[in-house]
Amino acid sequence: MDSKKNLFIETFGCQMNANDTEKILLSLGNAGYVTVETAVEADLILINTCSVRDKAEHKLYSTIGRYKAFKKNNPELVIGICGCVAEQVASNLLKRLQFVDLIIGTKNIHKLQSIIEDYKRTKIRRTFTGQAPIEDDEEFNSTLIEGFTNSKGVVKATLSIMRGCDNYCTYCIVPYVRGSEESRSPESILGDVEGLAKKGIKELMLLGQNVNSYAGINKISEKISFTELLKKICNVRGIGRVRFVTSHPKDISDELIMLFGSEDKLARHLHLPLQSGSDKVLEAMGRGYKSKEYMTTINKLRTLYPDLSLTSDIIVGFPGETEEDFSKTLSIVKEASFESVFSFKYSQRPGTKATEFADQVPEDVKKERLERLQSLQKEITAEKNHALVGSVVEVLIEGRSKVSSEFLSGRTECNRVINFPKPSDATFFEAGVFKGILVTEACKNSLRGKAVERSQPC
Ligand code: SAH
Ligand code: SF4
Ligand code: F3S
Repeated sequence: MDSKKNLFIETFGCQMNANDTEKILLSLGNAGYVTVETAVEADLILINTCSVRDKAEHKLYSTIGRYKAFKKNNPELVIGICGCVAEQVASNLLKRLQFVDLIIGTKNIHKLQSIIEDYKRTKIRRTFTGQAPIEDDEEFNSTLIEGFTNSKGVVKATLSIMRGCDNYCTYCIVPYVRGSEESRSPESILGDVEGLAKKGIKELMLLGQNVNSYAGINKISEKISFTELLKKICNVRGIGRVRFVTSHPKDISDELIMLFGSEDKLARHLHLPLQSGSDKVLEAMGRGYKSKEYMTTINKLRTLYPDLSLTSDIIVGFPGETEEDFSKTLSIVKEASFESVFSFKYSQRPGTKATEFADQVPEDVKKERLERLQSLQKEITAEKNHALVGSVVEVLIEGRSKVSSEFLSGRTECNRVINFPKPSDATFFEAGVFKGILVTEACKNSLRGKAVERSQPC
């Protein structure tokens, strides 16, 4: 093995970034790189960055400094910054961090292999950001899937169906760092799904910043909606469960809502970011819906599917948010009774509209609101988890549990981790199998269970 091909990669941010890291690992793996556990062993260090909040961006600066010294012992060491901060700050990063060799934006990952080879030859520090056709990405993806051997017996995978975002919510940097919205062609997506199914993947998580506005064009120039695409994906043999993120409340269609009733393979889980319960704040955020409309969707879903798990994202302390606005968020959180919520303090992002808004909320107020929201949600989540005790849930077995080697672990349809003692007939409980598990206990971050015969959705 070539001793100069040890790769260390660090990933921050959302599933989109995690998916990009998967692609980087496969592509550089094909070029002979092996992943190492610690940065000090590496000949190539990559940091896949996120810039959605100030704190996320700072993770880059607090991490990267320590790699500078490694170059003294290993002059051949190559350091690259990928992801959303790379796209956002680009050439400034190269100026500011003299020990960094390459900046590779979100749309240039398919070129990474050749970018690194060229750098090793020329030693010219460079920035690769900006546009690249979506077709290049699609071709790259299918080549990677063809070559993927799944030697570890992984049973679930993520698949990006679109890129970018056109919504320009006033707080959000994503459209600036991921570009405008583009949908992949249905044929290319389905080719990837079939490829993954052949490699033993049972559960798919489809990714897009706003999957409800998916509008792929097929070979005969017809527009395919997200619901139509989902139906086609669910028809692929071997795929047993399909999830997706993220849905924008303004674009969720009745067809999609109805699909939860007719498509068994669709996981009974919907992530529907609310952001705020105040109409004034929602308008200033540019979200395109009112709290009442949001609740109409939630009520429709809860009535049709009492077993559906609903999760959300909320921002506290958006500019101009008063105590009264915030109390509207708390009431809607109670009313919607989400299974869980990702909550964030508003963070000013360079170049976004809301950064310029007057009435920025002081940090201590944001902190206090976040704590109140999180403690309310903690109670709701605990109640929801306890309510599952005694029911049988359908679990995709993923393998040995982290808790103990005597336990197996899997995920419920609602994406909760469940651990259960390895049954005596363990051969029926291999990774990749769907089984009914009786929930016996609700722990803080997971469920405990026991294997049973019968299975039904959670
Ligand atoms: N496309 C997805 C989410 C992308 S970012 C959607 O529209 O739902 C994930 C979450 O980060 C957002 O839902 C939002 O809650 C949060 N977020 C985005 N920008 C933020 C900012 N400037 N400050 C705090 N939270 C932010
Ligand atoms: Fe950001 Fe809004 Fe686009 Fe989501 S929909 S990525 S929050 S701009
Ligand atoms: Fe972060 Fe980029 Fe995702 S900014 S949240 S990694 S799209």
